[in-house]
Amino acid sequence: MQLDLSGRHALVCGASQGIGRASAIELAELGANVTLLARSAVALKTVAESLPRKHAAQRHDWRSVDMLDTASLQAIASEIAASAPVHILINNSGGPPGGPAHAATLAAFETAFRQHLLAGQTLLQALLPGMRASGYGRIVNVISTSVKEPIVGLGVSNTVRAAVAGWAKTLSGELAADGITVNNVLPGYTRTSRLDGLLAAKASASGRTEDEIAQDLIATIPGRRFGEASEVAAVIAFLCTPAAAYVNGVSIAVDGGRTHALS
Ligand SMILES: NC(=O)c1ccc[n+]([C@@H]2O[C@H](COP(=O)([O-])OP(=O)(O)OC[C@H]3O[C@@H](n4cnc5c(N)ncnc54)[C@H](OP(=O)(O)O)[C@@H]3O)[C@@H](O)[C@H]2O)c1
Repeated sequence: MQLDLSGRHALVCGASQGIGRASAIELAELGANVTLLARSAVALKTVAESLPRKHAAQRHDWRSVDMLDTASLQAIASEIAASAPVHILINNSGGPPGGPAHAATLAAFETAFRQHLLAGQTLLQALLPGMRASGYGRIVNVISTSVKEPIVGLGVSNTVRAAVAGWAKTLSGELAADGITVNNVLPGYTRTSRLDGLLAAKASASGRTEDEIAQDLIATIPGRRFGEASEVAAVIAFLCTPAAAYVNGVSIAVDGGRTHALS
């Protein structure tokens, strides 16, 4: 199986922690040069220094930017692409805050739309010429199982994730002839600080302990445990390899079997 990414350049967003950091590690393990992106410069530097190097020529780098600042994101993406063509883009960022859709402000929708969809489009347009020129492109969007079954209490997220899924499916058809695939990975409950925050919020809203809330969630997962960021990252990394060239336009749940939908 062709899993080697030596000589490929990956840009991993939301890479200072959680699923993004785990994806950067997996891609580096497969030989890719990885550029990390998030807001926290301190955390990014630490992650970049700790990434694996399979061969002497392998280089890792990082850039600090807020994905809500579209102009800065555009400038940094262009700078990264000019320094070395990017073959792999992992679109990933922090999840929108919870709450029902009917009570969400317009500003909350605008923020989430900018952070998730407009950031993805900005990065795509900066990186696409390099992917086309090299005949190799892998775009993986980290979104949510809500694109198959909307999640109660995540109104803004459900809405914006569906927009990203529609964007991705459209792109997958437009770009396939250039050797570029576009897929989505849908994490289930995965042990990261995002999940810690969710448990704390549910505990304080209900007066129950975080452990009780966790046990309730685990009971909904056929695998009877939370996932690890590395387990989500393994699927993301596979989609970036030559072996996955014919996997295009799909949304893959990595959720221990929690999602009930057939497709
Ligand atoms: N963990 C789960 O159980 C789960 C389940 C379903 C879906 N998801 C989704 O999967 C994605 C990743 O989840 P995760 O658990 O890895 O999240 P996480 O631990 O909160 O990490 C989010 C990453 O995004 C970066 N980030 C956040 N806001 C940003 C911004 N405005 N600009 C640039 N970077 C930003 C953060 O770094 P900085 O703070 O340094 O910027 C961090 O590296 C999220 O969209 C999440 O909603 C997660």
